[in-house]
Parts: sequence; structure tokens; C-alpha cells
Amino acid sequence: MTHGRLDGRAAIITGAAGGIGGAIAKAFIADGARVLIADRDLAAGEAQAKALGDAAVAFEVDVTQRAAVQAMAQEALARFGRIDILVNNAGIIRKAFVRDMSEETWDAVMDVNLKATFLCSQAVLPTMIDARRGRIINIASIAGKVGEPTASAYSAAKWGVLGFTRSLALEVAPYDILVNAICPGPIPTALGQQGWRDGAEVQGVGLDQVMARVNSRSPLGRLGTVEQVARMALFVASDDCDFTTGAAFNVDGGIVMG
Ligand SMILES: NC(=O)c1ccc[n+]([C@@H]2O[C@H](COP(=O)([O-])OP(=O)(O)OC[C@H]3O[C@@H](n4cnc5c(N)ncnc54)[C@H](O)[C@@H]3O)[C@@H](O)[C@H]2O)c1
Repeated sequence: MTHGRLDGRAAIITGAAGGIGGAIAKAFIADGARVLIADRDLAAGEAQAKALGDAAVAFEVDVTQRAAVQAMAQEALARFGRIDILVNNAGIIRKAFVRDMSEETWDAVMDVNLKATFLCSQAVLPTMIDARRGRIINIASIAGKVGEPTASAYSAAKWGVLGFTRSLALEVAPYDILVNAICPGPIPTALGQQGWRDGAEVQGVGLDQVMARVNSRSPLGRLGTVEQVARMALFVASDDCDFTTGAAFNVDGGIVMG
């Protein structure tokens, strides 16, 4: 029997019915963890859990709702008896120029991408503080480091996630809880593809034009994969990464370099 880097650990991954969250769940389970697949889409979460096997459990949660998020943490404790890792991964993207953006759109993007990161972190902190250890991994974006027309709400939310990451990292360092962010570049998941389609529509250009720009954006000249983000998340969750907190790791083919 080989040993995994997350043997005996339990993780909550929000948005794990989707592309990046699903890949992170798969990587964590392959290295020994048990994972709560926490997503608002229960059918997709259950399908994901079934594909991943006995170490995965689906749980329906809207991460913008405080009571539901508290129930999510309780469920993880009841199932696993511990919470070692939280991955704040659930996200949405909405494209609009600022001059046209509705208040509802702004609020929805802020709630799922930023407020939920606060709510979910708050829900697991008592357990992690008691244990005097823990890992919180926030999936931000390179949009949290560079601006992008029609993505102001998304960019502002992801920028906020990085500020939250650094502040929380300082608060919980005395308990050996490490808080880090990952900033993926363009990846063709449902969210990624919707962003490119909506971006083309809002800007009144062809999808091929948008894709030509996206494809040539990174020095490495290609899109990323969900597995590349998952490998970074596994590293950040594991004991291999034990002297880094408040950091934001790019997985972006060199687009940002900072
Ligand atoms: N794909 C990219 O190009 C890219 C780039 C940078 C960052 N990201 C970030 O990666 C994360 C994962 O995105 P993805 O690309 O895998 O997209 P995805 O659409 O495949 O997955 C997102 C998941 O989040 C879930 N979700 C959305 N709102 C929710 C809510 N209120 N409560 C619970 N679950 C909710 C969805 O049901 C879905 O399963 C997001 O935070 C996204 O912003 C993606």
C-alpha cells in the first residue's frame, strides 16, 4: 500500500461538481483524502461523487447563504470527524461593461466569488483552530491581478479574494492554519467557455476573435487544464507546502508573472 500526501485528511471543496473543483477532488482523493463535494447543483455533485468513489460525498449548498454554509461544515464533521482542508472554489462569471452593468449582476458576482469565501472560511475556522492546523485554499484568478474589460465585477471580486487571503493568513498563522490562493489563467471549463461567449456578445465581436486573443495571451501559447490547477492545489494542501501562507500562485502559462 503506497502512502498518499493527504492520507487521513478530510476536505471540503465548494463548486466541486464543476471543472476545476472536480479535478481538485480527484487529485485529493488519489492522494488519500476524503472529500465533501459541495455544490449548489446536487445532481451534478452526486454524479461527480459517484465517479470519484467512496471517498467522495455530495452535499447541496448555496455558498452565499450563511446557514447553508454552516450546515455544510457540520455535515463534513459528521461524515469525517475532522476538516483539514477547505477549498473555496465555487465561482460565477458575468460579462458587462460598467456603464451597462445591473446592480444585481454586480451583487451576484461579489456574493459567490467573494462573500462566500468569507462565509465558508468562517464556518471551518473553529474546527481548524481547535485542531491547531488547517489549510484554506482560495481559487482566485489572474483577473485578481490584472484588469479585463467587461469583467470588472469578477476582477474586483477576485482582487478581494487575494486581500482576504492575506488578512486571514495573518489572523490564523498562530494556529498553523495556512491560507493561500491560486490564480488560474484561461481554462476551457463551463465557466471559462461561458465567459468567452458572453464576452464576444457584449463586445459585439466574433467568438473566433475572442479565442484568438485568449489563445495567444500566454507566453506558453496555450490554454490551461483543470489538472494543472489541481496539481497546484494538491501541493498547497499537502505537507510539501508548509512554510507558505498568504501567497497567490499563478497557474497561467506566464501571463501575469507577478
Ligand atoms: N475556467 C477558468 O478559465 C478560470 C480561470 C480563473 C479562475 N477560475 C475560477 O475557478 C473556479 C472554478 O471554476 P470552473 O472554471 O471550474 O467553473 P465551473 O463552472 O466548471 O464550476 C463552478 C462550480 O461552482 C458551482 N457554483 C456556482 N455558484 C455556486 C453557489 N452559489 N453555491 C455553490 N456552488 C456554486 C457551480 O454549480 C459549478 O459546479 C471559480 O472560482 C472560477 O472563478 C476559473
